[in-house]
Amino acid sequence: MNTRDTTALDTQSAVGRSIAHESAHAQVAGAVDYIDDIPEIKGTLYAAPILSNVAHGTLNGVDTRAALAMPGVRDVVLAADIPGDKILAAFAHDEPIFAIDTVQHIGQVIGVVVADSVMQARRAARAVQLDITPLPAILSVKEALAAQSYVLPPVYVRRGDAASALARAAHRLQGQFEVGGQEHFYLEGQIAYALPLEQKQWWIYSSTQHPGELQHWVAHALGLENNAVRVECRRMGGGFGGKETQAGHLAVWAALAAHKTGQPVKLRLDRDDDFMVTGKRHPFEYAYDVGFDDTGRITGLQLQLAANCGFSADLSGPVADRAVFHSDNAYFLEDVDIASFRCKLHTQSHTAFRGFGGPQGVIAIEAILGDIARALKLDALDVRMRNLYGEHERNVTHYQMKVEDNILHDLMPQLEQSSRYRERQQAVAHWNAANPVIKRGLAITPVKFGISFTATLFNQAGALVNVYTDGSVQVNHGGTEMGQGLHTKVAQIVADELGVPFERVIVTASDTSKVPNASATAASSGTDLNGRAAQFAARNIRDNLASYVCGLDAVGAGAVEFAGGKIITPKRTRDWNDVVKEAYANRIQLWSDGFYRTPKIHYDKTTLTGRPFYYFAYGAACSEVAIDTLTGESRVLAVDILHDVGRSINPAIDIGQIEGGFVQGMGWLTTEQLVWNSDGLLTTHAPSTYKIPATGDIPAHFKIDFWHEANREDNVGGSKAVGEPPFMLAISVYEALRNAVAAARDAAPEPGQEAAPVVLHAPATAENVLHALGRIDRVGRVSSD
Ligand code: MTE
Ligand code: HPA
Ligand code: MOS
Repeated sequence: MNTRDTTALDTQSAVGRSIAHESAHAQVAGAVDYIDDIPEIKGTLYAAPILSNVAHGTLNGVDTRAALAMPGVRDVVLAADIPGDKILAAFAHDEPIFAIDTVQHIGQVIGVVVADSVMQARRAARAVQLDITPLPAILSVKEALAAQSYVLPPVYVRRGDAASALARAAHRLQGQFEVGGQEHFYLEGQIAYALPLEQKQWWIYSSTQHPGELQHWVAHALGLENNAVRVECRRMGGGFGGKETQAGHLAVWAALAAHKTGQPVKLRLDRDDDFMVTGKRHPFEYAYDVGFDDTGRITGLQLQLAANCGFSADLSGPVADRAVFHSDNAYFLEDVDIASFRCKLHTQSHTAFRGFGGPQGVIAIEAILGDIARALKLDALDVRMRNLYGEHERNVTHYQMKVEDNILHDLMPQLEQSSRYRERQQAVAHWNAANPVIKRGLAITPVKFGISFTATLFNQAGALVNVYTDGSVQVNHGGTEMGQGLHTKVAQIVADELGVPFERVIVTASDTSKVPNASATAASSGTDLNGRAAQFAARNIRDNLASYVCGLDAVGAGAVEFAGGKIITPKRTRDWNDVVKEAYANRIQLWSDGFYRTPKIHYDKTTLTGRPFYYFAYGAACSEVAIDTLTGESRVLAVDILHDVGRSINPAIDIGQIEGGFVQGMGWLTTEQLVWNSDGLLTTHAPSTYKIPATGDIPAHFKIDFWHEANREDNVGGSKAVGEPPFMLAISVYEALRNAVAAARDAAPEPGQEAAPVVLHAPATAENVLHALGRIDRVGRVSSD
């Protein structure tokens, strides 16, 4: 057969198909290994953390005698036992590995107890006596602002002259509100398993989004070079940002315990300790002063964003920066003055969480636009449309990036139509007129989310593709799998590049000894970065094979096609397996690395200006809610989403990301409430008191459509990042709730309060809804009237 025979080929590519997640079947069958499932090495010991019970204080001493006397207890590891630097190798160098002279939050880790079993270690950790002299603690953002207690200096981003624009404005509104934090609630809790190897070398299993940084932190704490530490992670049972840095602490603690005892040590936090020890989404407090014209178009804005960062910087700098970058969301702010405060409180150190400060920025401007619409009695969608970035003018952000790929002028009207927004607004008004107790609200909000790490250097990735002599393919890349389907997408990309069926490609565990110096899998850029790196690696192998068959057939390299498990030249079609075998025999390289760096991006981190993002991902959601004005309870009734994933690499996975992101955002804004008491103790530290959405909270009508267009930037497969942007679509729920509260208040107006903004602190728990309705005060007392 010498002529091109394509009839027999299965030319269907893997990219673009709803292929099941590469480990979905094994996961539901309980047949995959999370860290705690890995068969243990003989001699493995178990660690449990000793936690501070004071929010701020001087640590005078730690009495370990009672703990050490308990059965099965092997050792206690404290700061004095650290062979390397006692300060964690985090970028701000402001966090001791174990508390040294002071404690800075309830739940801060002072050391670990090592024992023969997990339960023995945990019991003994509670028997350790701490001698702490309490110091005054800062437990609210307001106190921190008053005391100028910051983990990092304030940042100001200004354009134009907001003060004079406000003075000139036809209308003006001021407001203040708060948005709470969020616990990650990954199903697999934080865990690390540290194995000392020969000659001061180490192998660390960790449930981490950032193996490369974890390697560095462990090496630094042990006083070793990075090359002595190998970190491996096959998958996480969820990360959501909570394992970008927080996993590193556990790995360091486990490694220090293994170092002191000379035996392998596993450290797995139970759920309560996980809540007490690890950071959460940053709670924010806002104050704004906005000027606008009769149509609701913003003419001037002063906005203050105060982030509760907890006791150390961790990722608070880039998180607060991203909040500043997203406080325009999709809207042109001409004269704007943004002040961002990174407040230091005596609580857990808050960290990355899906959206990474973006949600905290977006909700500010969406709340402001909602307030403007209600003040002018205009439809909020009309007001939002009038404020959108223009396509050819009014298209430069407050950080001087030109918005070149704005599709919201078309996307939002399409959602308006498909969700029957106008009709339903009328129906909601009728409902509200007829029903005194249950009030409804409807809102459409968009998202425009910047894709790339704002720290330009992180926008690089590497991959390694191996073709074995039987034609099977293995790919390894710097990204990590946390359920988001990254490994599946990378395998699809590699399969297509080599023209082999998806089933021939296996993705192996993230491993710092295979691909070094990898960035965190974060900023939604996992597939953009690692997918491209893997594609380039596969392309190198394909090029090797192409030139080999070209030589055989005496044709040009461009004439070779790889598809359906065949390698096709104008003269002949060969089986992939046969070519691979022959190429090996002819000493052709069958494996390659690949490297990718995102083009076009640059940014000045002192002024927060430049082009921090390669492109934007867009979307919009229409949400309808109902509130019970007597109890404050609420439900999300119906949600329609139109979201932009570019050309989808895997539609099923992308839908899952949109659903999951939206519902997680709903949880943040409705039921998930973190309560620290007046001592600084987090009292909501278990599922009994901390409520993530359950299946029954998923709206009965939940419809998701994709925007039809490919990424306008050259991104892998024409796709767009999808992990975080849909999270912010849940802000439509918050705005719908505020509309429902407004409807209730309009039905029974308080004198002089007509145009006052609806102050609904998030999460919109029953208490906060009753407070917004004016029925109770902030400590829950029934308002007298
Ligand atoms: N989806 C699942 N199932 N589990 C997760 O932990 N993390 C989210 C998102 N989707 C997460 C998830 C976060 S915070 C990010 S940044 C992205 O996935 C990271 O993966 P990606 O860059 O490959 O999309
Ligand atoms: N997103 C997520 N993680 C990060 C970022 C970001 O922009 N920058 C540093 N870590
Ligand atoms: Mo996601 S918060 O960038 O890990």
